[in-house]
Amino acid sequence: MSRKRALITGITGQDGSYLAELLLSKDYEIHGVVRRVAIEDPEHRLSRIRHLLDRVTLHAASLESYASIHSVVEAAQPDECYHLAAQSFVTYSFDDEFSTLNTNINGTHYLLSAVKRMAPRCRFYFAGSSEMFGAAAETPQNEQTRFRPRSCYGISKVAGYELTRNYREAYGMFAANGILFNHESPRRGYEFVTRKITSGVAKIAAGKQSKLALGNLSARRDWGHAREYVEAMWLMLQREQPDDYVVATGETHSVEEFAQVAFAAAGLDWRDHVVPNPTLFRPAEVHLLLGDASRANRELGWSAKTSFHQLVHEMLAADLEAQNISSAGATAG
Ligand code: NAP
Ligand code: GDD
Repeated sequence: MSRKRALITGITGQDGSYLAELLLSKDYEIHGVVRRVAIEDPEHRLSRIRHLLDRVTLHAASLESYASIHSVVEAAQPDECYHLAAQSFVTYSFDDEFSTLNTNINGTHYLLSAVKRMAPRCRFYFAGSSEMFGAAAETPQNEQTRFRPRSCYGISKVAGYELTRNYREAYGMFAANGILFNHESPRRGYEFVTRKITSGVAKIAAGKQSKLALGNLSARRDWGHAREYVEAMWLMLQREQPDDYVVATGETHSVEEFAQVAFAAAGLDWRDHVVPNPTLFRPAEVHLLLGDASRANRELGWSAKTSFHQLVHEMLAADLEAQNISSAGATAG
């Protein structure tokens, strides 16, 4: 039997890099969509997939251009398509609502339409988000919880979710939504709070800075490990019927707790270093996210394995090592 072909948008991101590794381990032929500039500057822009470059085929395309997306789908003829590319930083979506909505909504629509035309039997995954729940009316949140997004990022993800559901219902496509809660790793972007904290702690431990400015310390998130969450994406596309799934740990922790654990693991007291900065608060905050992944557990056989402490310690250990500081203490969590 010929190898299965997967098309991954956002392959240069945190999740894209773990998903490419997972699918390569399953002997998939991998096609990745990247921005043209990424090919010009591979050292920097392809850093998360540097170790995979001889085993993946990259296609330059723009999420803003239907023609380019159509050409990639036509060329790759994927069996499975994982749509991960997005403007994914919630804070930025307040600064530039328009590009966030354009990229995230039109990009998803273009890809769904191209798949429908050029590879109608392809199974499609959409990277939905717990940010869609926003000011959620109930806790924990599950697949039935109403969406009340609090940012243009959240709104764009609700639109992508609905487009995906509509293509499933209207055109019979195998199209699934993952509703993934926050997931992190040593490959997390530096602007997200977890990586901002662990990289900040490492720089403080190295004597390169003494303070770390943070915004809302009381916000609570359900944080899991990205490597495990990409397995749930794959499992969703192996079902007999497409459906939507919450993927979460079922535990929630505050930003303050994250900082406390990370600083303590480096032998530091967070209160000596964290400086509250009101300008880092968002115009509208999502205060509490906690996921109920029992459907994923029941139907996909998926559950989170990495504990909150293990996650913080793994991220910190990687950032300490980047500063040439032994991570022996930090990995013990
Ligand atoms: P990430 O690290 O920020 O990666 C985002 C990817 O999207 C990158 O490959 C980026 O390419 C690409 N991208 C962004 N804007 C683009 C554009 N205009 N044209 C083409 N590509 C573009 O995000 P992630 O954490 O891996 O998340 C993957 C997906 O899951 C995203 O859709 C995110 O919204 C969603 N999600 C993430 C989480 C989470 O906690 N991580 C939770 C729920 C949902 P460049 O490298 O060229 O910038
Ligand atoms: N980024 C950031 N920087 N966040 C801060 C800071 C700070 O200095 N201080 C406090 N926070 C708070 C934010 O206000 C938010 O409540 C929480 O930390 C988490 O922020 P992020 O790490 O930026 O993640 P997010 O929850 O907004 O979004 C992530 O998770 C979503 C899933 O719920 C992203 O990965 C999204 O793409 C994803 O959909």
